[in-house]
Amino acid sequence: MFKVINGMKDILPGEVEKWHFIEEIAKKIFKSYNYKEIRTPMLEVTALFKRGVGETTDIVEKEMYSFDDKDGTSLSLRPEGTACVVRSYIENNIYGSEQLTKYYYMGEMYRHERPQKGRYRAFHQIGAEYFGASSYLADAEMILMIEDLLKNLSITNYTFYINSIGCSICRPVYKNKLIEFFSSHKEHLCENCQRRLSTNPLRVLDCKNESCKKISENAPSIIDNLCEDCSKHHNNLIEKLNILKVNYKVDPKIVRGLDYYVKTTFEVRVDSSFLGSQNTILGGGRYNGLVKELGGNDVEAIGFAMGVERVLLLLSEMKFENSLDYFVIGLGEKSVDTLLKIVRKLRVKNFAVEFDPRFGSIKSQMRFANKLNAKKVIIIGENETEKNIYIEKDMLNSTQTECSLSELLNEQ
Ligand code: HAM
Repeated sequence: MFKVINGMKDILPGEVEKWHFIEEIAKKIFKSYNYKEIRTPMLEVTALFKRGVGETTDIVEKEMYSFDDKDGTSLSLRPEGTACVVRSYIENNIYGSEQLTKYYYMGEMYRHERPQKGRYRAFHQIGAEYFGASSYLADAEMILMIEDLLKNLSITNYTFYINSIGCSICRPVYKNKLIEFFSSHKEHLCENCQRRLSTNPLRVLDCKNESCKKISENAPSIIDNLCEDCSKHHNNLIEKLNILKVNYKVDPKIVRGLDYYVKTTFEVRVDSSFLGSQNTILGGGRYNGLVKELGGNDVEAIGFAMGVERVLLLLSEMKFENSLDYFVIGLGEKSVDTLLKIVRKLRVKNFAVEFDPRFGSIKSQMRFANKLNAKKVIIIGENETEKNIYIEKDMLNSTQTECSLSELLNEQ
């Protein structure tokens, strides 16, 4: 027997309704903030992610599903959506036709991580990217949109963790300070962080290893080392979040695992036993240099992506009704044509309708109707057809009425 790949999942009926629920809410919120949907392919050239996400990130170093195409080009399944959206934004010269662009996307991403609850190798993100606005007001608007999204999903026990990781002016200076600080504790850092010290020292700050965490507590804070421009941006944003009463904490350790961020970075974590350690349901930040880095104009941008599977774990207690409007029972050969007409008529009116083409006994058909959670059952027997009537059973309050067949079939 073939099995689904480790860390990947089928989404079956019963579960898929929850996906629809989340997607519909997200679409509604994105629409109200004037975001338009963009769909990009799942495969891109590997070089896009190396350049966009960063050669020394865990994603590019260890987690990509990459292979050579028949013509020898290295391709990768997308590990995230931002680089793909930026590639499309540049390739389609969107900046040439509009200066502010808001895109959202929903789709499957692939990372070869160690699977556990809330962490998969194929997972789905719902994300948004806002191009062209450098103001802290764009950051504030994005955070408000995320709040609206979470509230509409009935997620209340969340906190925003906000940081600024500076820019090409202040970050190199800060990095050197960090290297200096961590070098004096090098022997107590985990093996991974000892290596990171020369490749990506900021990542030592969010290492989960207990010894690294302890050392990081006394590390210099990026917030204290921002240049004037980054500091102003950060302080203005914080002021607005206070006015808007957003539930946030400034956390100088939010450095995130992607190299493209500058200035604002953020994560949303929930307090939930359903998620355990994988309780970051979304993350994002500013990536002002990425469009240029990938060959486009100097366009500033900010975005976020939410992990759908993690949100689903949170909503796992929610019950979704999966019911049918009508189940139509036909009894005997003569009822077949009438049944087909009725089924079609109701479906044209957008009702969810089912019948059992095996035409078993009334008892077995009623059992099937119950199993499908039908709200109403229509019974067409041979006698009824002759008398121009049908029987309609209301399954919720167990009442039964005789109705006119010609009326149902002829009404517009
Ligand atoms: P990220 O933090 O790598 O950011 O992923 C965003 C969210 O995707 C995470 O917070 C988590 O909820 C979910 N996620 C990530 N990896 C997994 C996994 N293996 N299994 C289940 N869920 C996962 C990005 O991807 C950026 N592109 C976000 C962004 C958009 N920044 C700017 N624009």
